[in-house]
Amino acid sequence: MKKKSNIINFHSFHLSLLFLFVLFCSSEQHSITSHGGLTDKEVSYIKQRQLFYYRDKFGDRGEKVTVDPSLVFENPRQRNAYIALQAWKQAILSDPFNLTGDWVRSSVCYYTGVYCAPAPDNKRIKTVAGIDLNHGDIAGYLPEELGLLTDLALFHINSNHFCGTVPHKFIKLKRLFELDLSNNRFAGKFPEVVLKLPSLKFLDLRFNEFEGTVSKELFDKDLDAIFINHNRFRFNLPDNFCNSPVSVIVLANNKFHGCVLSSLGNMTGLEEIIMMNNGLRSCLPEEVGNLKNLTVFDVSFNELMGHLPDQIGELVSLEQLNVAHNILSGKILASVCQLPKL
Ligand SMILES: *[C@@H]1O[C@H](CO)[C@@H](O)[C@H](O)[C@H]1NC(C)=O
Ligand SMILES: *[C@@H]1O[C@H](CO)[C@@H](O)[C@H](O)[C@H]1NC(C)=O
Ligand SMILES: *[C@@H]1O[C@H](CO)[C@@H](O)[C@H](O)[C@H]1NC(C)=O
Repeated sequence: MKKKSNIINFHSFHLSLLFLFVLFCSSEQHSITSHGGLTDKEVSYIKQRQLFYYRDKFGDRGEKVTVDPSLVFENPRQRNAYIALQAWKQAILSDPFNLTGDWVRSSVCYYTGVYCAPAPDNKRIKTVAGIDLNHGDIAGYLPEELGLLTDLALFHINSNHFCGTVPHKFIKLKRLFELDLSNNRFAGKFPEVVLKLPSLKFLDLRFNEFEGTVSKELFDKDLDAIFINHNRFRFNLPDNFCNSPVSVIVLANNKFHGCVLSSLGNMTGLEEIIMMNNGLRSCLPEEVGNLKNLTVFDVSFNELMGHLPDQIGELVSLEQLNVAHNILSGKILASVCQLPKL
């Protein structure tokens, strides 16, 4: 995957923005995984348990975290974090690297994969600001209690076997900035709750089993990056698609239909757009020539027709252009071949 380096740069950029004194090693590999040692029976057990768990809105939530009164906490937020993380630990069926093995005592800031930072609203107290369990191979699901981590800015669990859905209580994560659920086994409808997270900038849902439509609101949201490739989404690109202020958007390998709109030319901050392997059926608009910062443009494996707009030759930043496997016709202008970085 040639995109890796770009994405990693993107991450480090954001990390520095956050002033978290945290080093995340999130190499973005997305090996497609199998059941990871879980039998079908265990998978269905988790799913059922999660369904049960969601049915009950009024308190009896499957997990029972009782806080031992002898435990001493640095502050009440760490106590809440303890409840959230213990509930999560109970919702984990398999943890082959024993990453949560040390999730035991009250000192949540020392748990593997849990990162603390001074609270944004009170620098004197330390609070859980990041979770990184990338490449953990963990199987389980996300309990509602994670909503207690109200200072969380980063939640990275890529390349695990988490299934079920995204709990509605995520709505409490008002500071959540980066949500990376990629390469897991999440299923069901688009997790609407992400649209209600006011601080969210980076949304990565790729390589899961989400299905159905994608909420139109996603494209009006002030996000920097959207990765929803390799799911089972199926819908027409909505008319507000080009409102999105993203610099990176990857929709590849779903079943998106519809047209590449001329308003694409309004997405002037766009650096990478990958819409490969969907059902897009239209011409490529001339306005694409406005995208002066575009480095990756991949619309391969669709049903695009007509000729390649001459304005492609004006995409001075372009490094990768892939329009293969469409029904395009005509000539490729010399100006395209002469693009300096292509
Ligand atoms: C998991 O880690 C904990 C704490 O680090 C340790 O006590 C325990 O023995 C480990 N379990 C396994 C199966 O390695
Ligand atoms: C795109 O920008 C043009 C002006 O360049 C404007 O007329 C048009 O309404 C915009 N389209 C959308 C969908 O925002
Ligand atoms: C395009 O990239 C340049 C250089 O990185 C940046 O200064 C500029 O703001 C970008 N344009 C848009 C519209 O984001």
